[in-house]
Amino acid sequence: MEKNYSDLAETAIESIEKIAGTHPGYRRAHAKGSYYEAVFIPNGQAIPYTTAAHLQQESVKAIVRFSDSSPNPKMIDGLSPVKGMSVQFHLPNEEVTYLVGVTVPVFLTKTPEAFVEIIRLASQKPGPRDLVKMFIKYPESRAAFRIIQHTKPFLSYSTSRYYPIHAFYFVNGQGERQAVKYEWVPDETFSLGAKKEAAIHAVDYLEKELNEQLPVGFTLYITLGEEGDAVEDSTASWPKERTTFAIGRLEISGRIQHPNDQVMFDPTVVPAGIECPDDPVLHARRDLYAASFKRRIKGL
Ligand code: HEM
Repeated sequence: MEKNYSDLAETAIESIEKIAGTHPGYRRAHAKGSYYEAVFIPNGQAIPYTTAAHLQQESVKAIVRFSDSSPNPKMIDGLSPVKGMSVQFHLPNEEVTYLVGVTVPVFLTKTPEAFVEIIRLASQKPGPRDLVKMFIKYPESRAAFRIIQHTKPFLSYSTSRYYPIHAFYFVNGQGERQAVKYEWVPDETFSLGAKKEAAIHAVDYLEKELNEQLPVGFTLYITLGEEGDAVEDSTASWPKERTTFAIGRLEISGRIQHPNDQVMFDPTVVPAGIECPDDPVLHARRDLYAASFKRRIKGL
């Protein structure tokens, strides 16, 4: 039976609100974002590994939301180091599935409980000693902290790589399972229009910059996991020499408004041909996002 994380989700949301305040109607993380219409064009290379309908040969429509990770919808773009790219794929049989990526390849903690402990500590204004204790208790969080610490000012949504972080299982027509990790690679890695000063000081610079760059594109890559590669630990990377190849392209064409903003990008909603491993952070995200969603759609 799947574990229920709804109590933990309430504690997490309360701690986030204690740190960042309550912003009625907004997501409790990645509060500021903008929606785009897109089409995903699979190239057939995933077919030997999965029967997932959007990864065969037929193009599917998609909606993309770029976001700033902060729970504050008025955050100055340059002040929060992690950005998100969430994709909702519209499968031919009217199902949907999601890929929710961020600009760092690993997460801070192996378990949702550890993450909640860290945000609860952060909400109590910890001293340097408390932080050191936390790093000793959760040494796996160092990799993500190190990456975030060395992040340069973020200049453009359309020139960054995005990592859905968790491993997933692809399942083919013979029932064979293969662990994979995804990565979105942008067509352009440099934007002539991107300006450091503007990114650091302007509140909504990133959305304006992206709107000027449209249309933009990303290629979806997968890496094949091998025996011994961690599939249930969102803090772990796989060795660099693993086989990686492209499975499709996302073409993002236009800004769209989403008046009620009722999309919940739940990374555990996967179609036949894809399975979620027992990664506790991945599974907890369903209840965590539902707790945030429940509040924001009521205007709380
Ligand atoms: C226990 C760990 C986590 C917590 C507590 C957490 C919390 C949240 C919450 C509350 C939301 C708002 C959901 C909504 O209202 O629809 C959210 C959105 C988001 N999270 Fe997480 N999250 C966690 C792990 C992750 C991980 C591992 C990733 C990396 C892939 C991630 C990437 C995102 C993105 C990109 C969004 C924005 C989704 C959108 O565009 O609607 N989160 N997160």
